Amino acid sequence: MRKIISLLMMSLLLILAACGNETSEPAKTNSTTKKEETVTESTESKEVNLYTSRHYDVDDELYANFEKETGIKVNVIKGEADELLERIKREGDATQADLLYTADVGRLSRAKEEGVLQSGSSELLDKQIPKKFQDNDQMWYGLTKRARVIIYNKDKVKPEELSTYEALTEDKWKGRVLIRSSENVYNQSLLASFIDINGEEKAKEWAEGIVANLARNPEGGDRDQAKAIAAGIGDVAIMNTYYYGQMLNSEDPEEVKVAEGLSVFFPNQETTGTHVNISGAGIVKHSKNKDNAIKLLEFLSAPEAQGTFATANFEYPVNPDVEPSDLLKSWGNFKEQDIQLSVLGDNNTKSIMIFNEVGWK
Ligand code: FE2
Repeated sequence: MRKIISLLMMSLLLILAACGNETSEPAKTNSTTKKEETVTESTESKEVNLYTSRHYDVDDELYANFEKETGIKVNVIKGEADELLERIKREGDATQADLLYTADVGRLSRAKEEGVLQSGSSELLDKQIPKKFQDNDQMWYGLTKRARVIIYNKDKVKPEELSTYEALTEDKWKGRVLIRSSENVYNQSLLASFIDINGEEKAKEWAEGIVANLARNPEGGDRDQAKAIAAGIGDVAIMNTYYYGQMLNSEDPEEVKVAEGLSVFFPNQETTGTHVNISGAGIVKHSKNKDNAIKLLEFLSAPEAQGTFATANFEYPVNPDVEPSDLLKSWGNFKEQDIQLSVLGDNNTKSIMIFNEVGWK
C-alpha cells in the first residue's frame, strides 16, 4: 500500500515538474493580488502577462526594452488568436492574462463582446493613440496600422487603370482578381467598412462583383495572392501593406523576386479612402496587473517603439508624431477611410452573412 501511495506521489510530482517546465507559462502572481484585482494599484507587481498572436522578433525586442526601462517583466504566451481568446474565456477570473494582443479590430471587438476585456485609460495613451484607433470604451488600443491595398503586376497593369475597390468589380477585371477567403477577418473588416460607408446593399454588390471576377477560388494567405500574380494566375490582389514590405525585404530570394514584379496602389483616393486596420491589444477583464498593462501599452505606442514597429515590420505607426519607415514613405501618403474603427467589429456579423450570401468561399 505504502508503495502505491509513494508511486502516486512520485507521478504527481512529475506532473507538477512538467508544468513548471513550460517556460512560456507566466509566473504565478502572489496570493495578495485578490485585493489588487478590485483596486487599481498593484505597486508590488513587477510583471505583465501578454497573450499574443503576433510572431515577430521585433516584438520580443520591444518587450525586452520595456523590461530594461521599467523593471517589469513581460511574460509572453504566443498562440493563434481565436485559441488565445478561448483560453482567456476558459480561464475566467483565474486567468494570468493582462493583455490580449492580436491583429484586426474584428477580433478585438469579438473579445470585447465575449466579455473578457475591461476599460483602462491614461492621458499618455490618449495623446499617443488617436481616438479613431481606440475602442469607444477604451477596452482595446491600436498599436500598429496597416492598409489593405491593391497590389498589381507591373508588366500587365498600369496604375492609371486602377482607381477604387469598387472598380475591381468591372468586367475588364474578370478572371484577374486575387483575394483570400472570406473566413479571414481582414476581409470581414474590409467589407464591414464598406457596410459603414456605402450601406449594406452596395457592400453586397461589391462582394458579388469580386466573386464574379476572381482568378481562382480563394486560397492561402495574403502573401499567396502576391505569389499567384507572379505565377500568372491573376493580375491584381487585395492584400495588407506589411506583407508586401516583408516580401520585398525577405531572406527568401524567391519572395523578393515576386515582390519586385509588383507595385502598390492605394485605392479610393478620390473617394472614400483606403481601408486601414490595426493590430492592437485589449486589457483583460481579470487582469491582475492592470497598471503594468497600461504601462506596456504606453511604451508600445510611444515614439521609440512605434518607430521600431515601422522599420522592422513595415507597419504604419498609430502615433501621429511618428513617421513611417522610408520604404512606406516611398509608397507615398494616402487618404484613409474616415471611420471609427470599432464599427468594423459592429458590422462583422453582417459582413459574414453577406459573404455567405454571395458565395465568397
Ligand atoms: Fe497578418
